[in-house]
Amino acid sequence: MSAKRVVLAYSGGLDTSVAVKWIQEEWNAEVIALAVDVGQVPDADAQYWDAILERAKAAGAVEAEVIDAKAEFASEYFGPALKANALYEGKYPLVSALSRPVIVKHLVDAARRYKGDAVAHGCTGKGNDQVRFEVGVRTLNPSLEVLAPTRVWGFTREDSIEYAERFGIPINVSKQKPYSIDENLVGRAIECGEMEDPWAAPPSDIYDLTSHVSDAPSEPREVVIGFERGMPISLDGELMPMERLVPLMGEIAGSYGYGRIDMVENRRVGIKSRETYECPGSLALIVAHQDLEGITLERDVMREKARLESRYAELVYDGLWFSPLREALDAFIDSTQQHVTGEVRLLLEPGRCAPNGRRSPSGLYDYGLATYEATDTFRHEDAAGFVRLWGLSAETWSRRQRPGGVV
Ligand code: ARG
Repeated sequence: MSAKRVVLAYSGGLDTSVAVKWIQEEWNAEVIALAVDVGQVPDADAQYWDAILERAKAAGAVEAEVIDAKAEFASEYFGPALKANALYEGKYPLVSALSRPVIVKHLVDAARRYKGDAVAHGCTGKGNDQVRFEVGVRTLNPSLEVLAPTRVWGFTREDSIEYAERFGIPINVSKQKPYSIDENLVGRAIECGEMEDPWAAPPSDIYDLTSHVSDAPSEPREVVIGFERGMPISLDGELMPMERLVPLMGEIAGSYGYGRIDMVENRRVGIKSRETYECPGSLALIVAHQDLEGITLERDVMREKARLESRYAELVYDGLWFSPLREALDAFIDSTQQHVTGEVRLLLEPGRCAPNGRRSPSGLYDYGLATYEATDTFRHEDAAGFVRLWGLSAETWSRRQRPGGVV
């Protein structure tokens, strides 16, 4: 460790507060604490962030700064993932995986502004987040050293508390639950505690963004989401930026008990882990977006895009946000979104959120072609020849080669 000035990704929690002091004491380097607001505390105000910065200073940071990255995170990170309908292993809308690159971008930027020669994070050695931080930093600025104090110090939670007390670092650990939680605008990830037994049901006290289905309103409700070129722009006709729309959609869908995920997923480091999430807003928007694509994307484009969506999710999950493949996939996806403009009616019922109607000014749904009524414009006479030729190859095979031949 030769760095002299380290920019630390600071959350205000126990580990990163201890890290501020520990890096100075053990590695003899100055620490700049950088908090990046990606919506981790939904109702955080200026006072909240002031308190976080004060805590960093009290732990010994030479500088402490908070960056409001909510708008950027929502539109430039969640936005592309939404256009890709990105769900890791078919289920997880990449909550933590999407926030790491925006944090990395600001860490690297702060290292330049504060003339730091290293960046540090508080991730452990078993998770995906270390991969995302380190690969991201190395990609954006390979000359920066990347430090992971928690991987080195070997502290238990009790050791960390004791360390904080010894150095008078103000921490707030009184009624902490035994879970590891990561939250942002896209959703909330909850792991550890009883959930380490994948058979055990998640305890009911882990949820914060979603109600239990039995507490959902009994009256169904519809929400209309407006999209422009694949990006959500309005809710029930009211135009709003993504950083407002995603949490608002989340409040509504969450109140119906929609958006909980319980899964065993494959971490990049080779571990299977049991994860629970609540992502009411992001999941509801993916449902709506995917539905609008159903009426606006040409068939072959839609099928090819579907094949690439899971690849996109894997790439982001695996920490390769800053990669040429992600950029190339985004270019493809953007070109598919030119006409993904219109509205989707989402129907909310207890535990459920599903499309209930959609329309688009440039939709490919042709009433004349689809209808069974008198206004039908479909050329029925074309069908017989088309169908015969469509099946001709299989028919020939059956006559000549099919075991047992034609029946
Ligand atoms: N398993 C998820 C992921 O890798 C969530 C990680 C959450 N991190 C945390 N510190 N609890 O994206």
